[in-house]
Amino acid sequence: MAASRRPLLAANWKQNLLWQDIENYCEELRAELPEYFADSAEPPIDLLVCPPLCYLGLLGALLEDSHVLSGSQLVSTMGGGAYTGEVSAQMVADLGCDYVIVGHSERRGLFGDSEESITQRLSQAIEQDLVPILCIGEDLETRRSGRAGEYCRQQLEAQRGIISGIEPGELVLAYEPIWAIGTGENASREDAQEMAALVRSWFREHVSAEAAEAMPVLYGGSVKPANIADYFSQPDIDGALIGGASLEAASMAQMLRACMAGKES
Ligand code: PGA
Repeated sequence: MAASRRPLLAANWKQNLLWQDIENYCEELRAELPEYFADSAEPPIDLLVCPPLCYLGLLGALLEDSHVLSGSQLVSTMGGGAYTGEVSAQMVADLGCDYVIVGHSERRGLFGDSEESITQRLSQAIEQDLVPILCIGEDLETRRSGRAGEYCRQQLEAQRGIISGIEPGELVLAYEPIWAIGTGENASREDAQEMAALVRSWFREHVSAEAAEAMPVLYGGSVKPANIADYFSQPDIDGALIGGASLEAASMAQMLRACMAGKES
């Protein structure tokens, strides 16, 4: 990763863990990573936890006065108002969140999130000063046909209008090949680096050099303690978006340590 960007490890808990689990998780995290809970300088790697929406308040309270950041897995396409069941970006920001995941393949594939609704979610997030983690990535058929790069460029192109208005450094991009999510089958470090570099060069060409350099690019898809350092050592990969392996505090701490060791070497 490049020295100028702050690395980021993001835990995406998806629809997992209950109240008591979260209390235990935070207690374990405190024991495993005391530097994130100490009244000292910010550790060199940002650690972000994205719990289910209903537990954002709980997480915020448990992590108060720590360096651990919190993020939402979703925000509504709409601002406040008569939208039963929705949670607005303003509410998420009010709960102390800094980040929001937008365009995750599970939202796109299972819940019909279209490019249009992704634009709306991005817009809501930006308005509330939340940093979006925009997820893109191809399916297996596209990868096998050799069109992964073209596919991801199209996904970026679909959001070009909105992302080109985002301040440099206020957007995170996650490259998550769908075939690698939750499957145990991860992209090779070379492929992940190639896609991260492609994403960055798209930003350089279509947004600005400044935005491209300031933007953390994460890899996601079956990241675990045994492979995270492989990705983290790549020049265009600044961290990871982690699902399954983020559900245990000890595993999250192990991944953070592996990245810290990589950063120092
Ligand atoms: P996984 O999920 O780590 O379980 O593959 C990653 C993600 O969906 O963000």
